[in-house]
Amino acid sequence: MIQLIRGFKDILPGEIEIWQHIETVARSLFEDFNFREIRLPVLEHTELFARAIGGDTDIVEKEMYSFPDSKGNPISMRPEATAGIVRSYIQHKFYAVDPVQKFYFIGPIFRRERPQKGRYRQFYQINAEIFGVGSPYADVQLIHMLRCLFDRLSVGDTTLVINSIGCPECRPTYKKTLLKELNALSDHLCSDCLRRRDSNPLRVLDCKVPTCKEATKDVASMLNHLCPACVDHFDHVKSGLKGLDIDFVVDSRLVRGLDYYTRTVFEMKTTRLGAQDAVVGGGRYDVLVEMLGGPSQPATGFAIGFDRLVELMEQDSEDYGSTPDLFIATLGESSQENAVRWSCDLGRAGVRTEMDLSGRSLKSMMKRANRLGAAYVLIAGDKEFEEGEAILRDMSTKEQFQIPMSDLVESIRERIRPVSLGRS
Ligand code: HAM
Repeated sequence: MIQLIRGFKDILPGEIEIWQHIETVARSLFEDFNFREIRLPVLEHTELFARAIGGDTDIVEKEMYSFPDSKGNPISMRPEATAGIVRSYIQHKFYAVDPVQKFYFIGPIFRRERPQKGRYRQFYQINAEIFGVGSPYADVQLIHMLRCLFDRLSVGDTTLVINSIGCPECRPTYKKTLLKELNALSDHLCSDCLRRRDSNPLRVLDCKVPTCKEATKDVASMLNHLCPACVDHFDHVKSGLKGLDIDFVVDSRLVRGLDYYTRTVFEMKTTRLGAQDAVVGGGRYDVLVEMLGGPSQPATGFAIGFDRLVELMEQDSEDYGSTPDLFIATLGESSQENAVRWSCDLGRAGVRTEMDLSGRSLKSMMKRANRLGAAYVLIAGDKEFEEGEAILRDMSTKEQFQIPMSDLVESIRERIRPVSLGRS
């Protein structure tokens, strides 16, 4: 039997409802904040990701699904969405209409990482990105929107961690200082850190190997090397968050795994998902638009790990499943044709209807209706047809009502309307 590829997964009915719920809430919230959806191709030129994310990041070095197209040009399946969104902002000259653009994106992402719980090779992200606003309040607004989303979804137990990694003015000096310190610690660093040290010494701060963490615990902090403009930006981010009563922790070692960031970086972490503890990653990327050939426009954004958010919400095990409003149980061949017609008309009228045409006994049909969680069952057999009235059974109260067949769809719709309205 052919099975799924390792690191990939199916999202099945029964699980999909929570995904749909999150997506509906996110879309509605983002639109309230005047963000507009953008959908992009999965495949882009490999060079886009190499230039945006950085040629010697883990993502570009070893995690992309890349292959030559039929003409031999290297293309890759997106390992994140931001680079593609920037490409699109530039290519379609959004900046010429209005440099300030606010986009949201929901879609699959591909990274060839070692699969484990919370880490997949195809996963999903929900991004929000603001272009054209350099103000620290854009960072604050994004984080506020994220908090609102988590509140609306009743997701608790997350910690916002923030840092500033400076700008092209102040970071080079810090890098030199850090490099000097790391050189003195060479004997205590893992092979990955030794390799990364020269290309991007900041990444060493992100290493999860305990001996590296211990060895580098007292190295110089970027926060002590920020230029006055970056200090001012970071101060405003912090005061803006405080002003909105958003709790946060400053972690000077938070550096993120993508090279495009400037100034503010942040993550939302949880202690409830084991090793894969980041539910959201984001930050400012003020030089990326220009680096990819566009005008000089600042930008800031985040990506929620959709799969991890689902896993968090599943732990609270609220039921997001869908159940039919009505189950039609027909008895006898002659009533089946009517049942099909009723179910078509009821579906059109917004009543979620399931029916049973198997010709089984009423008892086994009632059992099935129960298993499906139907709110009502409509019973119509030969006797009911003779009398022109079907029986509607309320499955929670066990009450039964006579429903005139001449006006069946409207009567049912009237009676069970609260159930179908409650669905939205
Ligand atoms: P990232 O931190 O690489 O940032 O990914 C964002 C989130 O995607 C992570 O916090 C995590 O929840 C989820 N994620 C990452 N890898 C996996 C995986 N293999 N399996 C499941 N979930 C995963 C970015 O991608 C940036 N583009 C975020 C951004 C947007 N920065 C500015 N704008």
